[in-house]
Amino acid sequence: MIEQELLEDDAQYIWHPLTQHKTAMVPKAIASAAGNYLYDFQGKPYFDAISSWYTCSYGHTNEVLTDAIKKQVDKLHHVVFAGMTHEPATVLAKKLIGILPYNQAKVFYSENGSTSVEIAVKMAFQYHFNRGEKRHVIIALENGFHGDTFGAMSVSGLSVYNGPFEDLLMEVLRIPAPTSDNIESLLAQVVDILKENKVAAFIYEPLVQGAAAMQLNDATALCQLLRIFKLNGVLNIADEVMTGFGKTGTLFASDQILNKPDIMCLSKALTGGIMPMAITSTTQEVYDAFYKDELAAGFFHGHTYSGNPLGCAVASAAIDLLVSPYIQQQIDRIANSHENIVGSFKAHKNVAAVRTRGIILAIDIDTTMERYGNMRNVIFNWFWERGVFLRPLGNTIYIVPPFTTTSAELDMLYDTMFCFLDCDILT
Ligand SMILES: Cc1ncc(COP(=O)(O)O)c(C=O)c1O
Repeated sequence: MIEQELLEDDAQYIWHPLTQHKTAMVPKAIASAAGNYLYDFQGKPYFDAISSWYTCSYGHTNEVLTDAIKKQVDKLHHVVFAGMTHEPATVLAKKLIGILPYNQAKVFYSENGSTSVEIAVKMAFQYHFNRGEKRHVIIALENGFHGDTFGAMSVSGLSVYNGPFEDLLMEVLRIPAPTSDNIESLLAQVVDILKENKVAAFIYEPLVQGAAAMQLNDATALCQLLRIFKLNGVLNIADEVMTGFGKTGTLFASDQILNKPDIMCLSKALTGGIMPMAITSTTQEVYDAFYKDELAAGFFHGHTYSGNPLGCAVASAAIDLLVSPYIQQQIDRIANSHENIVGSFKAHKNVAAVRTRGIILAIDIDTTMERYGNMRNVIFNWFWERGVFLRPLGNTIYIVPPFTTTSAELDMLYDTMFCFLDCDILT
């Protein structure tokens, strides 16, 4: 298909996500992708600096992952997962439980980050219900993002575009992200909230709030917060949809926090960007609250594609890659490289702040702008024309490169970002 025809069909038939079609730019037509690059119809490469929304961490069309899916294709594509089971699902579950924080015992399959959160929230409410307690309030972090379905949207603090739904959302109380500076007052605030409300769960993005432009939270302070909730019977839900699978330098961000979550949400890099798939994992204690003689005490939630064998097979292969010495060294190398460059970015006259955690690097430009305004498009296009795909968030430019990024490619990314900071767009 030629590019022009593709764009015409796109304009005629497609409604894109997160898009005001009346004012949006014409979408970029992607012909193919391989390794760390996307290719347009003229064969021009674009470095995928955000791993296609943090999914393709092992590079596009990774051979190991492609082989895993090819092998599974000849055996079993899909089968109902209620009342049936299969090897790819059990192999993956066992592998995941082997690498997740020690207290995680069970995995529940679904298809995307939002549903993994939706499931976690429903599990938390029903956990208390099954134990004879009616708890209906959730605590979440300010500026958190957890997805676009109703439950996930309710707990998300970044609700700029949720206006039409606001009256329909669940009861959620928001607290600031914990830091070493605010933790004492935050703990006092939480104690007050717990006195006055029947809190079912606390949901948090550990260490890095992705959609909040990669805002960091403090592991020690967060740990104190988790402890208070635990002591008060509130379930802690770690949304690791973005941070999971190596992004923060450890397999999971929760590995860097002493108090472990009761429930975890995982998706994105789970399958290395090949199949849409998600996991909600829980402790044995959470699972046991549903394990009763009464049918209705079970968790009656299910999606048609739950536990899809192709997704499970490719996720298993992705986990083997993640724990391999090569990928672990790559993660350390990228994280160290980011640490070493932070000072130079901080010293730049057009930079207001710089943050890094693991392979994530975010730079706040010293200017104010709308999150999805015109300036955002100007910056997006500036990088695109120079062969780099990234998506600015407000005045933040950030990268979450594939683990397969080389030192030369990192240098190219840093150089392009410095070049941008010097360019006349910002003057
Ligand atoms: C932390 C977090 N949770 C949930 C989601 C929603 O995931 P999905 O877009 O797969 O529904 C996202 C998406 O960016 C996310 O970053």
